[in-house]
Amino acid sequence: MAPIRRRGEAVPRVPVRRGSSRSSPRPYRGATEPPVVKDPSFRRSLALFRAFMREQDDPDFCYSLLARDAIDQVEAYGGPVDGRVVVDVGGGGGYFTREFRARGAHAFLFEPDLAELGEKPPEGTVVADGYLLPLQDGVADVTFSSNVLEHVADPQTFLSELARVTRPGGLIYVSFTNWLSPWGGHEWAPWHYFGAEWARARYRRRTGRAAKHTLGENLFAVHIGTTLRQVRARDDVKVVSARSRYWPFLAEAVVKAPGIREFATWNLLLILRRCPP
Ligand SMILES: C[S@@+](CC[C@H](N)C(=O)[O-])C[C@H]1O[C@@H](n2cnc3c(N)ncnc32)[C@H](O)[C@@H]1O
Repeated sequence: MAPIRRRGEAVPRVPVRRGSSRSSPRPYRGATEPPVVKDPSFRRSLALFRAFMREQDDPDFCYSLLARDAIDQVEAYGGPVDGRVVVDVGGGGGYFTREFRARGAHAFLFEPDLAELGEKPPEGTVVADGYLLPLQDGVADVTFSSNVLEHVADPQTFLSELARVTRPGGLIYVSFTNWLSPWGGHEWAPWHYFGAEWARARYRRRTGRAAKHTLGENLFAVHIGTTLRQVRARDDVKVVSARSRYWPFLAEAVVKAPGIREFATWNLLLILRRCPP
């Protein structure tokens, strides 16, 4: 098994070299430029939806596709990741870190839960909590956190730590499934609309298994309006884009409609740029 580092152990030195093995590194494109890939589109959303349907039977297929798609989004907003330092916070089994590395990034996975890491986490994985990353300020060109925010009790403190480790001008990719999304209840969705406890009990009755998530313990009701207000009020990051992560159309427009956005966005993707301290 690949080495795992635990809290308190030495952390791999994050390389400060800019650029890859190429002789002249490509410039890091400004994060305000528009995406260059066909996103959103029906074809893409359909492919992702089909992959989600196979998640239980074929997680490798599902998460590899999701990782390719997410890193396409990172590159669309921030330029090629080749040669860049990437910090993947709460990256589970490491699909995203592997995809970043496949594209030439110096990517590092920080994940607190050994069970989530599985048997073959990427080499150099660090067992660490996203609230307290064992990293110096400003080491990352890209800080990436997919579907973690709804699993932490204090999302704004978690975001502060992501911003801290990102260099000024660097990109922060944060997405989460909001509570009132049809998927907000995770494995007990969409029954969470009838109450978390009831939905959880129903899941147990129907499957014979205890649900993985408990509201208030490892799943929290995060809302889009509140999150946007809090993030826009921050002075350590600037919002480059707030959009639905998976929608095939109106991905940014849906997030602008108060009330409706809580149900219709499904999963909020925030592309943030780190401001100078
Ligand atoms: C739904 S999984 C998402 C995994 C992966 N990022 C993805 O998008 O498929 C939520 C992840 O958040 C991690 N997590 C929960 N609390 C965390 C924290 N305080 N710091 C970092 N990661 C955390 C969990 O261990 C888990 O791997």
